[in-house]
Order: sequence, then structure tokens, then C-alpha cells
Amino acid sequence: KTVYILNGPNLNLLGKRQPEIYGHDTLEDVEANCRKVAGEFGLDCVLMQSNHEGQIIDWVHEAREKAAGIIINPAAFTHTSVAILDALNAFEGAVIEVHISNVHKRESFRHHSYVSLRADGVIAGLGVEGYALAMRRMGSLLA
Ligand code: DQA
Repeated sequence: KTVYILNGPNLNLLGKRQPEIYGHDTLEDVEANCRKVAGEFGLDCVLMQSNHEGQIIDWVHEAREKAAGIIINPAAFTHTSVAILDALNAFEGAVIEVHISNVHKRESFRHHSYVSLRADGVIAGLGVEGYALAMRRMGSLLA
């Protein structure tokens, strides 16, 4: 089984962008950690990042055929995108939403997530470790 790890805008800069909030690890580090955990559960994973909402929607549609689960950090689209929510509602597998920072401790516009209306679980504020923990949960959900 395959798990898609989808990342939204500005996360290509992870490791360089506001390291005091998001840390020094890069998306490549995230992918390596997730791959290790996925391997423990006999899962495959594919990590993707885009700054474009439509691209993320297209990957969610692709996941309908190709993935059993989606780990998604929609970044700023979390708080704005009904379209990503609708796409996830058309996906039948497991969905875990991840935020590196604790969005609830930040500006009030980050407190609401459209994606949480669909997510089976949400992780926030555990740093990039949140992705590996989400993958561990995928391991039990998809067993
Ligand atoms: C984020 C939190 C969002 O509010 C923000 O727009 C991001 C990253 C996080 O991982 O903490 O870009 O999703």
C-alpha cells in the first residue's frame, strides 16, 4: 500500500523558512524519516510539494487510484481551501492532517482548518516529527 505525503505552499523552503517556527530539517529529511517508518509497516510513500492549490487537488484525485492514505500539510491552504476539502471528501482512504507548528498558539486565522472536517486525525505542534508519527498511525490504520 502507498501513502501520499502532500505539502502545500512555502514548504519547499522548509529548513530555511522561519526556522524558529518550523525548525532546520528540510522536506528531504521529512521524506527520509517517513520512508523509514513506512518501511517498518510494509508501506510505500511518495512525498510531494506544490505552491499551487490546483496541483494539490490533482494529486488528491490521483490518490483515489494510487494511494491507501494521505498525510497532508496543506500549509496556508488549510485555512482557506474549500476546494482541497472537497477533493479529500472524494478520497475514500485514511487522511491525517499535519502541522509542524502549533497553529492554535498562533494567529486566530490559523485556528480554523477546512481540512480538519475530513481528516481522521490531526497533529500540530510536534515539529517535523509529526509527519513520522502520522506515518506510524497510517501503519495501524492500513494494517
Ligand atoms: C503550517 C501552519 C500554517 O498556518 C502555515 O500557513 C504554514 C505551515 C504548519 O505546518 O505549521 O505554512 O501548516
